[in-house]
Amino acid sequence: MSAFPLTRLRRLRRTDALRGLVRETRLDLDDFVMPLFVGPEAMANTELPGLGRHSVDSVVAEADQLTSLGVRAVILFGIPEEKDDEGSGAYEDDGIVQRALRALDGSGLVLLTDVCLCEYTSHGHCGVIRDREVVNDETLELIVRTAVSHVEAGADAVCPSGMMDGHVGAIREELPDTPIVAYSAKYASSFYGPFRDAAESAPAFGDRRGYQMDPANVREALRECEQDIAEGADVLMVKPALPYLDVIRAVRERFDLPLAAYNVSGEYAMVKAAAAQGFMDERQGAIESLTAIKRAGADLVISYWTKELASWL
Ligand code: PBG
Repeated sequence: MSAFPLTRLRRLRRTDALRGLVRETRLDLDDFVMPLFVGPEAMANTELPGLGRHSVDSVVAEADQLTSLGVRAVILFGIPEEKDDEGSGAYEDDGIVQRALRALDGSGLVLLTDVCLCEYTSHGHCGVIRDREVVNDETLELIVRTAVSHVEAGADAVCPSGMMDGHVGAIREELPDTPIVAYSAKYASSFYGPFRDAAESAPAFGDRRGYQMDPANVREALRECEQDIAEGADVLMVKPALPYLDVIRAVRERFDLPLAAYNVSGEYAMVKAAAAQGFMDERQGAIESLTAIKRAGADLVISYWTKELASWL
């Protein structure tokens, strides 16, 4: 191995074109998924445009815009008109996501759906509550109903995000042909704050640490992935992304399934807020963040920057 002064690593950094030739990681719009929120009424979010809310009508117009920018996939989240204890808005035939899916039929976008109850329950937890606890096995039935109704309405893939044990297998049993993107390693994270505002899904009491993962653990993330694979998952996911790049890397090295990473609302909001204060450049911060997530080993990335990225690339 040669060393300085024979070796000078700066030689390949001299011009933009040279740096481009030796770049190891690139951003390709094909790998990105844009989250979309659909509710009874459209509602702009000027500070966090990616977290604005669409109506069923405006989501169709947004899909047209995304397609013309080159975006290929979206993941839908619903905010129902009314919430109840069992989250019935999640699995109604004419629920908000089901109506959006039908309206988006023919959009040409890959339609993914988040399969969870927290946006639909009056208590804001991701399952059925008994004695102030989310009960696992009773919740499974409602999750399966939600996934099946999404597929009947036109979803191309379902993404169970509630961290219930056995939810991937329960869905797989009913939907043998549907791709399942499993939120396998989903941590109980403070970085979901802006999402919970946008989706009105903050828990009314307690927190989600009884079902989402402890941020301190990585071996447990591998066990979650192992379980999801055994239950029939097609894609694994790590969420959040930036504070968990080591987890993305560990999952990438251990398993051969496609790996998704969710660049969550707080990661997006931090850069937006810092840029608004003049502390950093948003576009550079976004591209650096997304490149880091890909470099760590993610194949696909769910990001609120997807639409802006499409206009930047
Ligand atoms: C639903 C769900 C959440 C997110 C995605 N799906 C919220 C949560 O678990 O509290 C968060 C996404 C984000 O912060 O961007 N369970």
